[in-house]
Amino acid sequence: MEVVIDPSPDALARVAADAVERLLTRRPDAVLGLATGSSPLRVYDELVRRHRAGAVSFARSRAFLLDEYVGLPPDHPESYRRVIDRELVAHVDFAPGAVRGPDGNAADLASACAGYEDAIAAAGGVDLQILGIGTDGHVAFNEPGSSLGSRTRIKTLTAQTREDNARFFEGRRDDVPRHVLTQGLATIMGARHLVLLASGRAKAEAVHQLVEGPVSAMWPATVLQHHPHVTVLVDEAAASRLQLAGYYRETWADKPAWQGI
Ligand code: GLP
Repeated sequence: MEVVIDPSPDALARVAADAVERLLTRRPDAVLGLATGSSPLRVYDELVRRHRAGAVSFARSRAFLLDEYVGLPPDHPESYRRVIDRELVAHVDFAPGAVRGPDGNAADLASACAGYEDAIAAAGGVDLQILGIGTDGHVAFNEPGSSLGSRTRIKTLTAQTREDNARFFEGRRDDVPRHVLTQGLATIMGARHLVLLASGRAKAEAVHQLVEGPVSAMWPATVLQHHPHVTVLVDEAAASRLQLAGYYRETWADKPAWQGI
C-alpha cells in the first residue's frame, strides 16, 4: 500500500488524474471504476480540464459506479447516477451507454445486483478504481460488518452514514434512503489498481485503520491491505493519526518521478 500525504488537495487530485491519464494513454479502452461523494470531485474536475486540453479521452473506455441509493427516483439530483453525470460524464466524451451503475429502482434488486457483477466481469474487470472512505471505514457502501468476501448486494446504511450524507439532502437525515446497492468488498478487490482519496480530520481514524489497523469487517476498508496495488492519497488532517507518517513521506519524496503510482 502506497500512502501519499500532501497538504494540497489539488496536488493529490493531480496524482490521481495522472494515473487515469497514463492508463487511458496506454490503454484507451480501459475500464474505470468511479466513486461518488465529495472526495473524488477534484479528480473529476482535473480530468475534465485535461480532457478539454486534449490530453485525455474517454471515448473508448467504460466505467462502473460503486453504488446507488435504492428507491430514489432516477432523476433525483442526488442519485449517484445523476451525480456522476453532473460531475464528470456530461463534460467528457464517454460513448452513450459506456457508464453504468447498479439499478436502485429495479423490480428485482437481487437479479440487478447479479447482472451488475456479470457486466463488470464481461467488461474484463475494472482497471482503475477511484475510492473514498466513510468516517466509519466503509468503502462504497460496505458498512461495518460487511463480509470481506461480499459481492454487489443490497445493504442498510448505518445511522452515522445517513447523518454524514444528510448534507446532500438539505441536512435532512430522514431523506437519506435507508437502503443502497453496493459493489461488495470482493468486487472492489477485483479491480487492478485502487486509488483512495481522503481529506479532513473526520477521516483520520478510518485512514489509520485502513493503512495500519488489523484487517477486520469492523473497518471494512482494511481489506484493502490484501490488495497488491493500492494508492492512498490523503491530506495532513486525514493523515494525522498515521503512526508511520514520516516513513510514508520519505518514501514518496524519494520516489523516482517516472514511476507514477
Ligand atoms: C459515501 C459513498 C462512498 C464515499 C463515502 C465518503 O457514503 N457511498 O463511496 O466514499 O461516503 O464520502 P465523502 O467523500 O463525501 O466523504
